[in-house]
Amino acid sequence: MGAGIAQIAVTAGHDTVGREVSAEVAERGRATVERYLARGVEKGRLTAEARDTALARLTLTTDLAELAGCDLVIEAIVEELEPKRGLFAELDRITRPDAVLATNTSALSVAAIAEATQHPERVVGMHFFNPAPVLPLVEIVRAPRSSDAAVDLAYQWAEQAGKRPVRCNDTPGFIVNRILIPLLNDCVRVLDEAGVTPEDLDTAMTNGAGWPMGPCALVDLVGIDVHVHASKALHAQLGEPRMAPPERLVAMQCEGKLGRKTGAGFYTY
Ligand code: 3HC
Repeated sequence: MGAGIAQIAVTAGHDTVGREVSAEVAERGRATVERYLARGVEKGRLTAEARDTALARLTLTTDLAELAGCDLVIEAIVEELEPKRGLFAELDRITRPDAVLATNTSALSVAAIAEATQHPERVVGMHFFNPAPVLPLVEIVRAPRSSDAAVDLAYQWAEQAGKRPVRCNDTPGFIVNRILIPLLNDCVRVLDEAGVTPEDLDTAMTNGAGWPMGPCALVDLVGIDVHVHASKALHAQLGEPRMAPPERLVAMQCEGKLGRKTGAGFYTY
């Protein structure tokens, strides 16, 4: 997700610092951006020169301090509250006071992340959808203490980058995940309840309900771990049984079958 967001930023003309946990993971992210921009050149969406200019805007680092000069920081780390709170407390110390700090959380409370900082007014949600360079939507999430200026900057940034932002409040799952996560959980439960294979379930939903991809392929794309974390967060906040992650997904997570990113999930990649 971080690589996808970096791709959006450099394509929109912004000097971008991509911070990763290791140089190796960062280079993998750069390779992903390069691959999709090269594809864009092949398809005539951008020139080779525009691709090179965009790639030159991307700097990679493992050092958080290198984000000090940024106007906008978009966080896309693991979907767990404590690591996000720790990161935002540090970003709050490192960055300029007028920088906007955005979280790409799927279903955690933006306020709970913002409260780890001394300046919660500059914290908002910017929730992208996978694959981020392709799907237009960005949910711009206003937490109770977010300032108008921070919300407006995030909205305008997304719009200028060619995305389709919508404003929403800091409610569990915001708009899309409030609906999509329990729905995908239902789909996964149907596999065992109805004795259907992932292939047949996906064929059914793409051909019978017009989905662009089947639910099992979609959970593989999102990441089993991300989906399980988001399910747990929604369940903790709203308490509906169907929001809790299905056992089958929890078992896949324990086995390290996290979907496309590990080469195996419902499908093998
Ligand atoms: N980065 C950049 N570009 C990508 C990409 C990526 N990761 N993945 C695919 N693309 C590009 C492809 O290169 C292709 O471009 P091309 O025209 O140059 O070939 C284009 O996207 C379409 O891809 P494909 O031809 O391979 O396949 P499809 O036409 O079937 O589209 C899809 C793929 C866009 C993924 C489509 O199936 C789709 O929209 N699926 C639904 C995705 C969805 O619902 N996402 C939301 C998940 S929920 C979420 O993310 C929230 C989180 O909080 C859980």
